[in-house]
Amino acid sequence: EMGDEEFGMELGGAGTTLWCSVSGRWELGTLKGSQKKGMAAAKLVVEVEGEEHLVEQKDVTRFEPSHAQDLPNMVAMHNLHEAPLLYLLQRRLKNGSIYTWAGDVLLSLNPYGPLPELYNLSRWQEDNSAKKREAAVPPHVYAIARRAYSQLREKVGMAEAERAAAAASGAFASQSVLISGESGAGKTEAAKRVIEFLTAASRTAKEARGSMRSVDDSNRQSIESSVAAASTRASLEMPSTPLAAVAESRTASFRTPASRARHASLAATTPAPDAAFFSPAVGVAEQPAVVSVELLLRDASPILEAFGNAKTIRNDNSSRFGKYVAVQYDEHGCIAGASTETYLLERSRVVDISAGERNYHIFYQLLTDSGIRSAWSLPPAESLDVLNVDGQVARLAGVSDAKEFAVVRRALPAFGIGPPEQAAVWRILSAVLLLGNLAFSLASDAAGADDYAQVADDAALACAAAALGCEEGSLRVALLQKKINVAGEDITQRYSIKAAQICRDALCKSIFAALFDWVVGRINAVSRSANPRSSSIGILDIFGFEQLQTNSFEQLCINFVNEMLQEQFNESVFAAERRLFAAEGVEVEDGSLQSSAERLRLMTRMLQGLDDQCRLGERGSDEEFFQEIGQKHTVRGICQQEQRGVFSISHYAGKVFYTTDGFVLKNSDQLPPDVTALFATCVGLESVITILNGGTPADAGRLSAADPRASATTSASSVRNSAPSGAGPAGGGGGVSAFKLNLSLANARASQIEEAQATARGVGGA
Ligand SMILES: Nc1ncnc2c1ncn2[C@@H]1O[C@H](COP(=O)(O)OP(=O)(O)O)[C@@H](O)[C@H]1O
Ligand SMILES: [Mg+2]
Repeated sequence: EMGDEEFGMELGGAGTTLWCSVSGRWELGTLKGSQKKGMAAAKLVVEVEGEEHLVEQKDVTRFEPSHAQDLPNMVAMHNLHEAPLLYLLQRRLKNGSIYTWAGDVLLSLNPYGPLPELYNLSRWQEDNSAKKREAAVPPHVYAIARRAYSQLREKVGMAEAERAAAAASGAFASQSVLISGESGAGKTEAAKRVIEFLTAASRTAKEARGSMRSVDDSNRQSIESSVAAASTRASLEMPSTPLAAVAESRTASFRTPASRARHASLAATTPAPDAAFFSPAVGVAEQPAVVSVELLLRDASPILEAFGNAKTIRNDNSSRFGKYVAVQYDEHGCIAGASTETYLLERSRVVDISAGERNYHIFYQLLTDSGIRSAWSLPPAESLDVLNVDGQVARLAGVSDAKEFAVVRRALPAFGIGPPEQAAVWRILSAVLLLGNLAFSLASDAAGADDYAQVADDAALACAAAALGCEEGSLRVALLQKKINVAGEDITQRYSIKAAQICRDALCKSIFAALFDWVVGRINAVSRSANPRSSSIGILDIFGFEQLQTNSFEQLCINFVNEMLQEQFNESVFAAERRLFAAEGVEVEDGSLQSSAERLRLMTRMLQGLDDQCRLGERGSDEEFFQEIGQKHTVRGICQQEQRGVFSISHYAGKVFYTTDGFVLKNSDQLPPDVTALFATCVGLESVITILNGGTPADAGRLSAADPRASATTSASSVRNSAPSGAGPAGGGGGVSAFKLNLSLANARASQIEEAQATARGVGGA
């Protein structure tokens, strides 16, 4: 039954062009009329490419002429709506424009291919330096960086005299660049581009002031001495300078399988952006003792990526940790240092990877060195349980682990980690691999219901103990049993196979995570500015919102942080706009803006509840935590129990189902006291153990380069004889480290948000 001409009238009547959603896709169609069948609400008849469709009124929106324009800023669009927005982004992407402004915020699409012209920094500067008016600058990640830098240097709206005073006291306005988006969106690439711009701008500022005078003096001293020391030590082994890897590592940053090789060839034909911005003197080769902070900043990246990135299904070089890099400035607008803070390294990956994925790059890189392999009797990755899935090792297309390893080895000395200490690092990593290969079987003396574990292969145990630098017997004891105190009496409780595996995995995860923190600590020790008054541009590159097949504690933490970022985004984009409208007396319908604030409060309470469970020690359980969700945290439309052990939270980005299995264990992340005691006996692991025991990475000193096998005795005395019982703070019980980490992230974010409330610029990956 056709008719009811009125129906489509407010849309412009028959013949009007409309956006309409047909089978989940937005299409442009022509309104033909409407149709009503029985009691059902009338539907619109639209024609899309010669075919008629019936669509509901909520699935159509008016087409405006501005929807067809190529707008660099989407807010210029009339009737801004999902449909024209997606088409705008698609049109722009096809033309190679991956960036689009959303007001002040930059939206970025991943082109999954090299766009070298886009990152010709000197050309970009030439084209845009004259454009003082922000709105005139085309959307680009460099524009974000430039804005942050110029706002750092001049406080907006500040009177000349005030500005001079501020500059004299070094009080610049600190800035933050927040980058968010799902995994593989291009966040880390964007962060690198921001840093690339900042280092170039700093270089220019330095040149303007005359050479290297502006490098923070105390800082430079430490850089100089550490690099000088490192390069003398390195000179025997390495013909090139420690930082010669810079150019190579830059090309190495593109990991799209297909693009990788192409990129390399393009890099050979296009001039590197540095060429125009970095004076030849910085080519380090001639002056290895004077290393600029700018170069250090970029040299840290291949190291951090080797230790903290891995291949996932979505991204061959996925960062498995969150990172906040504060680029520190002196009063002249030159980079004085950089400090890197990392968050929530994905520890589970060390012992558990899914099909098609890989463990951390550094493990595979290490295995390309036959010297290291034979030193620690390492089998190939196909035979290392933590590096393969059913014997299959996922490959990185177009990337050579050996070459990447060379880049890392050449970058490490810049941070004072020369070959002897590197050897200690490779040893610790080997220990993790060998521990991961330990299998357990039913103990021969176990009878009936007692399923005690024993180490299945004594030779494997010996290899792992050798690399760890401890006695074989001590390691065996720590893996197979724990001491518990019952009614004032110490008794030994032997582990089941499952419990021994959990203990082994905890050992692997803790060692690797501590080593990662140690590496970050060492990078900071060299690159951080000593001047506490220095202002900074912070770049937050953090894991995006996650919704996996099975979501666990890690996803809860990640999504908690993303809710925070979303709240910041809402605040800076919508709430500010709403205040503006209110100030001008324009009414805006409320409730249109969904707030993350309530979800954040709820999740905070939930995490505190989990923390309480962890404090209960043996009595805390995932089941109890799950029950609490039903009793205390159920909020209609936000959070509820779904089925046994599963609850859901409706996040800003969608509903996620969380499986509570393992939450308590993951949150407490506590090592059994006997394992902590074992660490105390390991030779040469002191610095890493400081971190394992709750010390900050800043406390971490050098790693001993001594080969533990030289000093290890062969007597198989048990750990109880050789180590104090319950040693170290981590053995004290009630540790809630993972959550502490989580809250420290919350606090860090809160202070950054406060600091940069008015000026934070987001780069939104899409
Ligand atoms: N701007 C870009 N230009 C070209 N390729 C890019 C760009 N951004 C990302 N990529 C490609 O996508 C991959 C994943 O990007 P990455 O920044 O690691 O994602 P995320 O950090 O968001 O997980 C990169 O390794 C690179 O190959
Ligand atoms: Mg990343």
